[in-house]
Amino acid sequence: MSGAPLDRLMARGADFLGSRYAIMAGAMTWVSERHLVAAISNAGGFGVIACGAMDPARLSEEIAATKALTDKPFGVNLITMHPQMMELIAVCANHQVGHIVLAGGLPTGAAIEAIKAGGAKLMCFAPALALAKKLARSGADALIIEGAEAGGHIGPVSTSVLAQEILPEMAPQLPVFVAGGIGRGAAIAAYLEMGAAGVQLGTRFVCATESVAHPNFKRAFIRASARDAVASVQFDPRLPVIPVRALKNAGTEAFTAKQREMVGQLDAGTVALAEAQLQIEHYWAGALRRAVVDGDVEAGSLMAGQSVGMVSKEEPAAAIIDGLVAEAAAALSGRAG
Ligand SMILES: Cc1cc2nc3c(=O)[nH]c(=O)nc-3n(C[C@H](O)[C@H](O)[C@H](O)COP(=O)(O)O)c2cc1C
Repeated sequence: MSGAPLDRLMARGADFLGSRYAIMAGAMTWVSERHLVAAISNAGGFGVIACGAMDPARLSEEIAATKALTDKPFGVNLITMHPQMMELIAVCANHQVGHIVLAGGLPTGAAIEAIKAGGAKLMCFAPALALAKKLARSGADALIIEGAEAGGHIGPVSTSVLAQEILPEMAPQLPVFVAGGIGRGAAIAAYLEMGAAGVQLGTRFVCATESVAHPNFKRAFIRASARDAVASVQFDPRLPVIPVRALKNAGTEAFTAKQREMVGQLDAGTVALAEAQLQIEHYWAGALRRAVVDGDVEAGSLMAGQSVGMVSKEEPAAAIIDGLVAEAAAALSGRAG
């Protein structure tokens, strides 16, 4: 009975996703594979496969394997700068993936057209109001607004400010999901009340029992507090790099050294700017793999959001989702009283 106001607030997002709850588990490279994605979707949330650097054959295999573990809907996250973007979209169409989430920059018209032609709903990250409007005009079916509190690659603006700027304008037009820094159900209730169709969480799901992240990676999350999850700094204005939020470790220092190395090569004219930026992105993917897969939590990248302070134990994905839902319902019923 206490769930009724929450169901009402989640109805639009849940309907869009085809899930019980309008709670997405954001794609996390190396973490969001078949086991976590299926567990999330089976628990009533919406799992998203992180394609990351997978090639089309690997993605195809991962989608098929996820389908073998769940008959519930899930999505696929593609990074727009992937060199085989069009082939990856074709793989999603072949498997009749219902939702594609595009990350990593504005998608090309050709990519949008191919996604639509393949029958998937298109979700895009909107880092600012002007871009949100442009994406809606270009054919996005839903938006994700992700604040700087989030783990991984981040924009400069906080979730609370993005929500205030973007929700009133965009939510009447299309479903908008809010991400970044959400650790408890009370925050979910608050964003729903502000007009969000749903939410996306990443950090809170890393320590799900079903997550294949290395035990060292999970332990680092359980130990960390919010202030340990810091954003990388840009070393030189000539080399713009997208900031990444991760737990402080030796890898954070190594990233500064990597930037210095790339700036040196730019100075010497031995590398072009785009190539230098690409090398930085490859650096991150490699460093994340080292931490998530190999368990090297010193030299690898421990991408994590500020909500890491609210990760206190390993528990099944269903328990995490049930907890969030109960907290959100309690927050809403408390307000009504
Ligand atoms: C370890 C890690 C890896 C991530 N990898 C990706 C990714 O490959 N693609 C993407 O769109 N977002 C990625 N994200 C962002 C999440 O999908 C999600 O939007 C974010 O974690 C939400 O903020 P929160 O961490 O505060 O919950 C990653 C986040 C983390 C913590």
